[in-house]
Amino acid sequence: MRHVYSSSPASALTADLLVVLVPVGGVAGAIAALDDAQHYNGALAQVLVDDEFTGKAGQSASVPGLGRVAAKRVLLVGVGAGSDTEVARAAGTAGNEARKRGAKHIGLALGAVSDAATRGALEALAEGNYRFDKYKAEASRKAPMDTVTLLGAGDDPRAVALAEAGIAGQILARDLVNEQPAECYPESLARAAENLANDRITVEVWDEVKIKAKGMGGITGVGQGSARPARFVHAIYQPAGPAKAHVALIGKGVTFDSGGLSLKPNDGMLTMRCDMAGAAAVIGTLKALAAIQPNVRVDVIFGAVENMPSGTSYKLGDILKMYNGKTVEVHNTDAEGRLVLADCLTYASQLKPDAIIDLATLTGAAVIALGDWYSALYTRSDELNGQLQTAATGAHEAVWRMPLPDLYKDKLKADWGDLKNVGGRAAGSITAALFLSEFVTCDKWAHVDIAGPAFMDAPLMHYVAGGTGTMVRTLTRWIERLGE
Ligand code: BES
Ligand code: MN
Ligand code: ZN
Repeated sequence: MRHVYSSSPASALTADLLVVLVPVGGVAGAIAALDDAQHYNGALAQVLVDDEFTGKAGQSASVPGLGRVAAKRVLLVGVGAGSDTEVARAAGTAGNEARKRGAKHIGLALGAVSDAATRGALEALAEGNYRFDKYKAEASRKAPMDTVTLLGAGDDPRAVALAEAGIAGQILARDLVNEQPAECYPESLARAAENLANDRITVEVWDEVKIKAKGMGGITGVGQGSARPARFVHAIYQPAGPAKAHVALIGKGVTFDSGGLSLKPNDGMLTMRCDMAGAAAVIGTLKALAAIQPNVRVDVIFGAVENMPSGTSYKLGDILKMYNGKTVEVHNTDAEGRLVLADCLTYASQLKPDAIIDLATLTGAAVIALGDWYSALYTRSDELNGQLQTAATGAHEAVWRMPLPDLYKDKLKADWGDLKNVGGRAAGSITAALFLSEFVTCDKWAHVDIAGPAFMDAPLMHYVAGGTGTMVRTLTRWIERLGE
């Protein structure tokens, strides 16, 4: 995939699809150079009137090139008032449309927008264009785009480079989530991180023996029922110059969540290859950062496990001794993510970073509360909340802050251990976050429950069903800012 700037007139661009973004009230201006006497000669305006296209966000109209313009087809997409988000969503729609048509070379006329909007639009275009079709018959696959030519959009190479980094990171995360669980298991997920090692990135992987010897009872307990042994991964990105900040990113890496002995019903289990989306997102972020090279030290940490029922599974009533020494009574083997994350959070806290963020497809309750678009954000730090909200807005993603009240901690009190791993049905996403808080010693900690946005059961906006790579772009922007 390459992005190029061009100052040639839109009508002269030889492309499979020429995308023109159109604001409300700006239809005439946006199509003027295409609809003049040498080209569509007024036909374009007529088509738009017939289609009732006025440039509202969500509208689009498509016209064949007919030799009137060099492109094979022209796609007009409404951007409403032209906010950065509207521009990005319109580009996402265009990316989706391009994939349906198998358009390889896209011309993109954004109009007069900022570099930030250009970056967001390029990312969304790629996001809409994404498909995971490696298991489909060759004949039924539509080609992805391979070239995007930006028309009349300035020529800032930085906007393109940043977009390309984000796109590559997000695609990696989506591919990892979408991969079938037969191929994505703890060792292969660890390998995905190892593949990123270079002169700025080191990757250390512990096997199940070392994990147990180190006292990580959470990862050991959850992983012991599977024929696929657990892995613990710690990658470090170290900037070339002095670091202006030091952060740790943690991801939930349950490569398949059957529920364990507390087995999930069929429908709930069907999509549980998505349960490593947190790990996939931090791996994808690491890939993006490797290209952007911010002045921030970043530690990426995840426990990779498969949660399975078997003769060696951890059991209800088992008491796990966690990495920080606390004991946890197992009341439900399907509440496994928090056990794996807990050990990672303790490990990350020992590194004494300025901030820790964990991402996890942790609870069905977060999906019930916020649906597929919003991630549930838990933090006691107003500053970190503000930074993440800003980064998410810039990335056109959504995090919604939730309460983290000590009042509910009683729900986690156990009879024999220090804690139990479930806090009841009410406030299920909150009590999961409170459980995690027992394993963190870092004031700036945020937990992001991505169970909704990480994986779409059905298409939403320009996302196809499946893994979304949510939070890669938000985390990338957050870290970029810390390094400035
Ligand atoms: N991986 C699931 C949460 C999940 C559900 C993610 C739906 C994505 C979509 C998690 O491990 C789980 O099973 N959580 C239980 C916790 C309960 C047993 C306390 C849940 O949410 O039901
Ligand atoms: Mn579970
Ligand atoms: Zn899970």
